[in-house]
Amino acid sequence: MTAQSLEGLVVAVTGAGQGIGLAIATAFAAEGARLVVSDIDEGRAHAAADAVRQAGGQAQALRVDVRSAADNAAQVRAAVSAHGRLDVMVCNAGVMQVRPLLELEAADWDTMLGVNVTGVFLSLQAAARQMLVQPALAEGRPRGRIINIASVAGRTGAGPIAAVMPHYRASKAAVISLTQSAAITFAPQVTVNAVCPGVVDTAMWAGIDRDLGALQGRANGEVWRQRVAGVPMGRAQTPADVAGLALFLASPAADYMTGQSINIDGGLVMS
Ligand SMILES: NC(=O)c1ccc[n+]([C@@H]2O[C@H](COP(=O)([O-])OP(=O)(O)OC[C@H]3O[C@@H](n4cnc5c(N)ncnc54)[C@H](O)[C@@H]3O)[C@@H](O)[C@H]2O)c1
Repeated sequence: MTAQSLEGLVVAVTGAGQGIGLAIATAFAAEGARLVVSDIDEGRAHAAADAVRQAGGQAQALRVDVRSAADNAAQVRAAVSAHGRLDVMVCNAGVMQVRPLLELEAADWDTMLGVNVTGVFLSLQAAARQMLVQPALAEGRPRGRIINIASVAGRTGAGPIAAVMPHYRASKAAVISLTQSAAITFAPQVTVNAVCPGVVDTAMWAGIDRDLGALQGRANGEVWRQRVAGVPMGRAQTPADVAGLALFLASPAADYMTGQSINIDGGLVMS
């Protein structure tokens, strides 16, 4: 990525307190972007802002629960009052739960879809309301970019561990669909694309390994090792592997791309 292409962009990232969101925020910072980093955990949001500053960017930290329309509006306002605009909205916040389909309760379903789907919907809606009325950075270019973090889990309801996370998979399929609807709605002013990571070494996967291991009576680390062994690229994915694609989707090279959901998963799922 050329530094010039992302320098000065105003970027908001939800769920930026750790893992993929944090890696995306610091990657934008290293390119000279100005960040609003938010998380439901306020302490984590502040730590993320420190990390962004260390990476060379400007940052504001905010507590945002993506399920709240008011929080999402406040996040956009924070960007606009500090910098006059919001160029890139990264809808990253998400949750996971290991629970077999027959044991799932309505509350589990509602929590999962509440964060992973309603959250993305509210974040992108708040961002688009601002982006659609702001001028483009340059003549003929989009006025804003929305980047949703979906998952290869949203590509199909089947798969090796699908039976223990049906609500997660359904939530990510919904994000892929919403990405297309939003792209159609906001074209040509705002591009909307999704990133579909695979098996990323974050706290989320540590939880899958622990909970699925307990469910199946397997030792710590075994579920993780087996899943990583099936990755054609021969290693686990790092959060930084995901960040590179987010930078690309915000860059001028992706000006003509919208409505796409792109797998970046070491070849785990080819679709
Ligand atoms: N880890 C993986 O293998 C993987 C693979 C594909 C997709 N993803 C997706 O990438 C995104 C980030 O995952 P991660 O692995 O970094 O997860 P993570 O659990 O490490 O971090 C998620 C962050 O989101 C925050 N968060 C949770 N609920 C929130 C809410 N309601 N409002 C605001 N923030 C909230 C958490 O506090 C946390 O800081 C998620 O959408 C996840 O589904 C992860």
